[in-house]
Amino acid sequence: MGIAMHLRDKTIVIGVCGGIAAYKAAELVRLYVKAGAEVHVILTRSAQEFITPLTFQTLTGNPVHTEMFNLVQEREIGHISLADRADVFVVAPATANLIGKVAAGLADDLLSTSLMATKAPVLFAPAMNVNMWDNPIYQQNQARLRMLGYRFVDPVTGFLACGWEGKGKLADPAEIFEETLALLTPQDFADETVLVTAGPTREEIDPVRFISNYSSGKMGYALARAARLRGARVILVSGPSALAVPWGVERLAVVSAEEMREAVLSRWEEATVVIKAAAVADYRPAVRAAGKVKKEGRESLSLALEKNPDILAELGRRKGHRFLVGFAAETSDLLENARKKLRAKNLDLMVANDVTQERAGFDVDTNIVRLLGPDEAEEALPEMSKDEVAGHILDRIRALRRKA
Ligand code: PMT
Repeated sequence: MGIAMHLRDKTIVIGVCGGIAAYKAAELVRLYVKAGAEVHVILTRSAQEFITPLTFQTLTGNPVHTEMFNLVQEREIGHISLADRADVFVVAPATANLIGKVAAGLADDLLSTSLMATKAPVLFAPAMNVNMWDNPIYQQNQARLRMLGYRFVDPVTGFLACGWEGKGKLADPAEIFEETLALLTPQDFADETVLVTAGPTREEIDPVRFISNYSSGKMGYALARAARLRGARVILVSGPSALAVPWGVERLAVVSAEEMREAVLSRWEEATVVIKAAAVADYRPAVRAAGKVKKEGRESLSLALEKNPDILAELGRRKGHRFLVGFAAETSDLLENARKKLRAKNLDLMVANDVTQERAGFDVDTNIVRLLGPDEAEEALPEMSKDEVAGHILDRIRALRRKA
């Protein structure tokens, strides 16, 4: 599978510089370790004023590296071998001083020497005072490193520990984690703009009630995240969902099928791949009551429904050069129904989802699907996480697009 869904077999070297955000490096290290990575930490001398080596040693299970010429550390794992062993080298927080040193080619302590010696991709997550950030000397240093292929996760705007407000706060560790994953993931979707739909739609009956379904958005959000990690520009059109927007993804929030249709069509021209994982309501109330529908004087209530537009069928009719993927949520005759929809909606790939199976379909973290291509070749995937299903779907899209 193309995407590094876990970090087992990966060695991450993380350098921590001295700054108030140093404590957040502990959270980042925890995320790496949880994902299965082997993590080695280098603390600069000033970082040790903010956080102790013991914290990182406890989190990683590895000795923490602090000195260039420490006899014990050199014997266990020399500073050059640390640089060699890294699959990815992260510095978080990275100070203006460290970035200035690297940009100038200086190597006068363990962290700057290891950075000079490594051939691994390097990711800097800077954190500093807003005026230091704005300083043209810093900006030039950063631009020079970017030009040389170093990657950056920009700081965010907020209240800074120094009392100023502005740009300079360390990015969220979860975001730095996603950037790290992307660096370890082949960028085989770098030329694509992927439009994903996710979640349910809600069709209003009156101001307080609606018709909907159990879709949580998990499947569509996993696809959006995976495509972004593989280098795509991703537009996510989402019905109501409690999920956080995946890193680097542009989300358009919609409520009804009609709104979803408008949002999809407004971004359709840009898309090269469209994946429709949303559970769109097939019907909506023919009339939306202006006020709350009252029960007084009524023993029963009938709702007249009218058909919603079939967005996917409409996309299929004007597909052009795009690669179109549909989902089929079925409770019987899975393959037969899915094949019918594949043909009727002019799709390049159909993901057949038997939603009666336990741990598959709506509002669970796993899924069990079959992938149907236009030649009707079928691939049955075993139960796996929705992240893994997303990876397989993207692999299949990549393979079919290469063939075309
Ligand atoms: O969101 P989760 O909780 O993770 O659940 C995932 C899921 C079960 C919603 C997902 O895996 C799934 O199966 N999505 C498709 C659900 C669905 O609406 O299937 P369908 O067979 O009714 O529709 C077929 C296709 O046409 C779908 O791609 C759908 O997005 C599209 N459609 C349907 C109706 C409509 N009016 N417009 C559409 O575009």
